[in-house]
Amino acid sequence: MDNPTVIKLINPETQLAFDLPMLSGTLGPDVIDIRALYQQTGLFTYDPGFTSTASCSSAITYIDGEAGILLYRGYPIEQLAEKCDFLEVCYLLMHADLPNAKELKNLIKSTTEHSMVHDQLTNFYKGFRRDAHPMAIMVGVVGALSAFYHDAIDIKRPDHRYICAIRLIAKMPTIVAMCYKYSIGMPFMYPQNKLGYVENFMYMLLGSPCETYQPNPVLVRALDRILILHADHEQNASTSTVRLAGSSGANPYACVTAGIACLWGAAHGGANEAVLKMLEEIGDVTQIGHYIARAKDKNDPFRLMGFGHRVYKNYDPRAKLMRETCHEVLTELGLHDDRLFKLAMELERIALEDDYFITKRLYPNVDFYSGIVLRALGIPSTMFTAIFAMARSIGWIAQWDEMIADPEQKIGRPRQLYTGPIQRDVTPIATRS
Ligand code: CMC
Repeated sequence: MDNPTVIKLINPETQLAFDLPMLSGTLGPDVIDIRALYQQTGLFTYDPGFTSTASCSSAITYIDGEAGILLYRGYPIEQLAEKCDFLEVCYLLMHADLPNAKELKNLIKSTTEHSMVHDQLTNFYKGFRRDAHPMAIMVGVVGALSAFYHDAIDIKRPDHRYICAIRLIAKMPTIVAMCYKYSIGMPFMYPQNKLGYVENFMYMLLGSPCETYQPNPVLVRALDRILILHADHEQNASTSTVRLAGSSGANPYACVTAGIACLWGAAHGGANEAVLKMLEEIGDVTQIGHYIARAKDKNDPFRLMGFGHRVYKNYDPRAKLMRETCHEVLTELGLHDDRLFKLAMELERIALEDDYFITKRLYPNVDFYSGIVLRALGIPSTMFTAIFAMARSIGWIAQWDEMIADPEQKIGRPRQLYTGPIQRDVTPIATRS
């Protein structure tokens, strides 16, 4: 990572010069190492939203937002989506390379064996109102895992961290499916060891004890692809939240819960649900012009959900793949005339030809199409973000593991530019205006 180049910083008041070293990664822009800046100059840097700040070094995921490239451990997302399944991708994110047949078999065995949740965990659901948002239940129930697995975890031990990751990947489908079943008043479905990871999830989510449920392979593949595309995305808001929570040495399930809370917001994982709400609100192609105008109006808080990205300033490569999957699913289900899908296609076409979206480089992101696919699968929109959380859990835990193993790891502690009152004295209450 060392790069002999330095950047000179000159303090205009004192004319003192400081050399700031540069660091190079394997791909992407060099970074200026400012770790010693405060000690040497008494100055902080200011970067709300971390638009120019690398918060850590990581070997997991790489994004080139200008070129629309996404790599997991060096492998392009297009190839992974084409040639691998979600569990292979989980292995890749955890182990830095793809599994061979035996390694995959072992992973399938371990995740299958850990897919049930402690029976007492089921009691937590009963504390929630039936109409609670699934993400609220996720925050509670995944957080509760930390009560079941705490004293036995030594986070300094790689084997303990690994078993945490296995438990999380294995139990998330069960927990998410239970959220849904609880919300509709149906009994929880136990995992079936004979089913594959995604098939099992669909069975627990959409099956019922009264009849045999046979998931359609095209739909299984589509959901598997959704999981692959959402598995990791370098230092996004929720992953950074997991890292920050984990930097204090907190329980990993509690850290993942912090990530779930962050993901919930409409600017992040909540966007897939928000896209569907927006399409329902637009309602008809004749209304698109009105909503595009609203999205462009600075005085209107309305934004085109599923458009724009902090890093991608080109078409999100995940959106391209999701669009493809969307066509496959709608063809399989004979839904090509689906009202919302047609509306989405037209909205995309109009926005991509609009000067505002062209100059601001706002393209559809992964969530623009994933909601339509999930809806076609028969999954209600309130569950979309919970499914995103299930997919992203592997990214969160792999990044948490990398952070704990990093010898340079410190507790995360940003500084601030203080703009409050300067020091003043407390006056007696009777004299205060
Ligand atoms: N509709 C209309 N205008 C937009 C949109 C949008 N969807 N997104 C950004 N802009 C405008 C924004 O108003 C700003 O204009 P100006 O320069 O005149 O102030 C400019 O484009 C830059 O936007 P920004 O908010 O400064 O960019 P950001 O990097 O802080 O935000 C974003 C990125 C994804 C939060 C934002 O594009 C957005 O709110 N999009 C809609 C929500 C969404 O789809 N989120 C899912 C993201 S992908 C999945 C995930 O990572 O979780």
